[in-house]
Amino acid sequence: MADSEQVRIVVRPNGPYFIEGDVRVVDTQGNEFRSAKPRIALCRCGGSGSKPFCDGSHQRNGFVADDQHDQQVAEAQERPRG
Ligand code: FES
Repeated sequence: MADSEQVRIVVRPNGPYFIEGDVRVVDTQGNEFRSAKPRIALCRCGGSGSKPFCDGSHQRNGFVADDQHDQQVAEAQERPRG
C-alpha cells in the first residue's frame, strides 16, 4: 500500500472518529458504503440518527469522551510500527 493509499483514523475530542483514505464501511447485512469524500466520520457517542456515521448529535447530547481511551490511542499512534 502506497503512502497516498494509507488509511488514517483521527480521534476527535468528544466527537467522532475521522477515517481518512479509501475505505469501505460494511454493515451487518454486508451492504457496502463507500464515500466520495476523502474523509468520513464514524459515531463514537452512540447518539447518531444515521449510524454508523456521525450526524453531529454528539454536539447536542453532551457526549464526553473517555480521556483515558483517547490517551491510549494517542500513545499507540506514537509507538513505532514493527
Ligand atoms: S460522534 Fe457525532 S453523532 Fe455520535
